[in-house]
Amino acid sequence: MFGILISAILLFEGNFCCRTVVSTSVTYDSKALVIDGKRRILQSGSVHYPRTTPEVWPEIIRKAKEGGLDVIETYVFWNYHEPVRGEYYFGGRFDLVRFVKEVHEAGLFVHLRIGPYACAEWNYGGFPVWLHFIPGIQFRTTNSLFKKEMERFLAKIVNLMKDENLFASQGGPIILAQVENEYGNVEGAYGVGGVLYVNWAAETAVSLNTTVPWVMCAQADAPDPIINTCNGFYCDRFAPNSPFKPKMWTENYVGWFLAFGYAVPFRPVEDLAFAVARFFETGGTFQNYYMYFGGTNFGRTAGGPLIATSYDYDAPINEYGLINQPKWGHLRDLHIAIKKCEEHLVNANSTQISLGDNLEAHVYYKSSKECAAFLANYDSSSDATVTFRGKSYFLPPWSVSILPDCVNVIFNTAKVTSQVTVDDNSAFTRSITMRDYSLSSSSSWSWYKEKVGVWGNNSFDASGLLEQINTTRDTSDFLWYTTSINMDEKIGQNETKEVGLFVGSLGHAALIFVNKRLVGFGYGIHDDASFMLTAKVNLRTGSNTIDVLSMMIGLQNYGPWFDVQGAGLYSVILTGLTDSKEDLSSAQWTYQVGVEGEFLGLEKESLANSSIWTQGSVLPINHTLTWYKTAFFAPEGKGPVSLNLSGMGKGEAWVNGQSIGRYWSSYLSPSSGCSEDCDYRGTYDASKCFKNCGQPAQTLYLVPRSWLKPGENLLVIHEELGGDPTTISFVTRKGQRICNHVSDSDLPPVDTWEPIVGFGSTTPQLGLKCETGWRIASVLFASFGTPRGNCGASFYPGICHANVSSTIEQMCVGKQGCSIPVSTAALGVGDPCPNVRKSLAVEILCQN
Ligand code: GAL
Repeated sequence: MFGILISAILLFEGNFCCRTVVSTSVTYDSKALVIDGKRRILQSGSVHYPRTTPEVWPEIIRKAKEGGLDVIETYVFWNYHEPVRGEYYFGGRFDLVRFVKEVHEAGLFVHLRIGPYACAEWNYGGFPVWLHFIPGIQFRTTNSLFKKEMERFLAKIVNLMKDENLFASQGGPIILAQVENEYGNVEGAYGVGGVLYVNWAAETAVSLNTTVPWVMCAQADAPDPIINTCNGFYCDRFAPNSPFKPKMWTENYVGWFLAFGYAVPFRPVEDLAFAVARFFETGGTFQNYYMYFGGTNFGRTAGGPLIATSYDYDAPINEYGLINQPKWGHLRDLHIAIKKCEEHLVNANSTQISLGDNLEAHVYYKSSKECAAFLANYDSSSDATVTFRGKSYFLPPWSVSILPDCVNVIFNTAKVTSQVTVDDNSAFTRSITMRDYSLSSSSSWSWYKEKVGVWGNNSFDASGLLEQINTTRDTSDFLWYTTSINMDEKIGQNETKEVGLFVGSLGHAALIFVNKRLVGFGYGIHDDASFMLTAKVNLRTGSNTIDVLSMMIGLQNYGPWFDVQGAGLYSVILTGLTDSKEDLSSAQWTYQVGVEGEFLGLEKESLANSSIWTQGSVLPINHTLTWYKTAFFAPEGKGPVSLNLSGMGKGEAWVNGQSIGRYWSSYLSPSSGCSEDCDYRGTYDASKCFKNCGQPAQTLYLVPRSWLKPGENLLVIHEELGGDPTTISFVTRKGQRICNHVSDSDLPPVDTWEPIVGFGSTTPQLGLKCETGWRIASVLFASFGTPRGNCGASFYPGICHANVSSTIEQMCVGKQGCSIPVSTAALGVGDPCPNVRKSLAVEILCQN
């Protein structure tokens, strides 16, 4: 272990002025990361800097800190940092240095996952597409061309961090770095080359001399001194590959990512908390939520195929930067409980005691007298009452209780006492909490209709069907494939003939036109983006054109050899023409990369007043390949803004020239398979809990406030399939309904929002808190007794009911938050039903 390095220098760094720099040493041993000589229990959370705007970073980091995190983890996104080989970009949302400094400023640590392979549902897993075009290159294996580029980028990032004094030994926040990402999951496919590559990656990383430990996640064969870490929904059974390495968990999925055509995944917080508690109970010391804040895949950053624009992930901080309750609060309480056990947990290994079938205790001693205990019931259906050190404890199924003093339970993972956010942005209604700014006046829209097929003079001919990524180099989602077939010898004069058209594509979607008329739209799914489209079409005497617009929806980001997974058409066949089928797959085709509107730059503010745009009384509706433009005023207030695109088909939208991402409202998820009140008990996986079945994956698209300006703003939409722009509206959140339900026998809070004078820590309390800058405006429901209904759905009074609205109004209205003791004495309304176990249910409205 290194000694403690202390050096105090006064630094003047841009906006981050004048901090005393204290150098921090980071090493590890069998138990934990050791920071300045102390073993630490660390809670970490993923926040990817480009998935929001720099203006929002401080707020997200603050909320992460308040939620009990010690570390912020991020990948580094090579393809946006080096868009052209040798030309670097670190501005705007990609200002990595500024992001790391913001985390530092907040007093948190950073885990920098340099990769440079990220995965992350990010376009091409973070690899620049130009890398693919280096002749002879093979990604993620022992290929000298790849290794050279990877080493150069790793060094670039490490040196950038060193130059800015961002490693812990330099007084910065970075305590950990990652090389590669989950290579162990695909290594087998690369044979011996994979094994050599792992060793090379490890050596290369270590040689960069960051002075902080390196990790490789999901890499059982990670060479020393690299720590191999666990990724998964549960990691309690994980053990590192050497007794000298600590048990660390780099990806604990708080939910799952969203793909177009899918229902919205979520993970119950009781299960998430159970997984975390089990991990620390079984000797884990570092845990990272993937994601703590997911954010948005702006522009064409989404990976693929078909990854949606929202990367909300059911994270503790939602896509809009708002706290997602009860997830955030329950995890915060869990972190407080675990922190209280920190010194016990890092001191020695636990003593494990069986308490029955699927029941066990893990006891951690700080000294011979002082211990902390975790009592676990991992049965997925039965609760249990266990005896531990002579006392009996009730354990709900699939839960862990935490006893920092080996006696008192201060937290149980299945007992959620934190508040619930009633309505989120996805449950959009014209309710008291949202305001709708409609763009319904058709006269305010202008449009531009794309030509079908080849539109410019940079088209080119080739024989046969070309693979799409090799052709477009991902400069556009679109590639036109155009050919023609002469029917003179096949049918008589002035005749038409109905034939079958079969178009096979590797993905991801395609619009097919015959003689400039739309005959079909084909598309795949995230798990398999290939498809075969069949259509009956009429061909006529003379020349007939076939135009196919093949579309990509994010480049693949995962799997062995994902970088060479192709896209675009592989076969086009006509049947019913003659006795044999007519295979056009090797015919002469004309190609054009991109669509005309992109080439013209229609999304740009500089073209807003151009005569290219048409305005008039006949706004085209439900028309393929149409660009729309309108001006709008930014919604008032400070609440998050989104664009409601539920009336549109598929396309991309820009606000003041900035792409807010791809949309695909017309792709509905399967109508079954959802369970809004998914049972938290039992093993969770990404296919367990879904909501919004039979609906589009996403209808609301976040527009960062910082992209809006006072006065007129420009909205441009590229609609590919057909939609009605007059249905579009901007939506802003002006309020939030929050509720909580706490029983008089519940646990007292691990930490209160406001200390309650006169009521000791043994009184359970109902806490309510609005977002920073918001206030409690009114009490919508308050009942003490036996209130019924669910927090999150609707409460109603039970048989025993005391209306405590006015008491709660007095305690709470006008404040950001309040804590209400749940006892007859404290509420001062008399006992509505003596000798009955009572609870308090409250719903409030917060306003900004
Ligand atoms: C992991 C990967 C992450 C992310 C996650 C799913 O395999 O390491 O980057 O893609 O899956 O969200």
